[in-house]
Amino acid sequence: MSFLLAPSLLSADFLHLQREIEMINQSEADWIHLDIMDGVFVPNISMGFPVIRHLASISSKPLDAHLMIVDPQKFITQFRDLGVQTLSVHYEISHHLHSTIMKIKDAGMKASVVLNPHTPVELLTDIISDLDMVLLMSVDPGFSGQKFITHSYDKVRRLRRIIDERGLKTLIEVDGGINIERGKLMVEAGANVLVAGNSIFKAGNPIEMIKQMKKDIS
Ligand code: DX5
Ligand code: ZN
Repeated sequence: MSFLLAPSLLSADFLHLQREIEMINQSEADWIHLDIMDGVFVPNISMGFPVIRHLASISSKPLDAHLMIVDPQKFITQFRDLGVQTLSVHYEISHHLHSTIMKIKDAGMKASVVLNPHTPVELLTDIISDLDMVLLMSVDPGFSGQKFITHSYDKVRRLRRIIDERGLKTLIEVDGGINIERGKLMVEAGANVLVAGNSIFKAGNPIEMIKQMKKDIS
């Protein structure tokens, strides 16, 4: 089954980010996953606009930005101006999800909603047809290298059913603790996009690991 692979830069070597982006450019990866945190929605702070601007300027892969921030509406045009292709906002902090989704689309980006592990996929019933993608967290957001939550397979299957029953093209992305074995099971369950941090960047040879993931999971 075909799928897209999005290495998460959060696990990269931040002292050599240029080298890491060049590695991804040369690899078989499909997207680059950027984790943006504000220290409020999640107990961590990652990278901000000055860093993202430089990364975007040398990336040849589409940018997939996962916003873990309390007020995503404020920054939509800035992410668009940096060349972000897909913008994901969390369900749990969006009081006006529909208007946020419309603003992302009006800005010319693909719109995606993220669900934390405890948030049921059924809550998306009244917005799913407006979404280009749903990002399901298989760990609590905030850090890479956390323990995978097994219940996530079931969430992917339930969401796949909702999307297929309605004849929608909405993509399902999963994020957290993904390696070859879990990636395979996720794609079998109905996922289209796999985010992987530690399993790629902490591998002895990340470019080979990306190649292996693309080959073994398909
Ligand atoms: C966690 C982030 C993930 C994380 C994934 O908040 O959303 O993208 O970097 O890292 P791994 O694959 O190591 O769990
Ligand atoms: Zn992420």
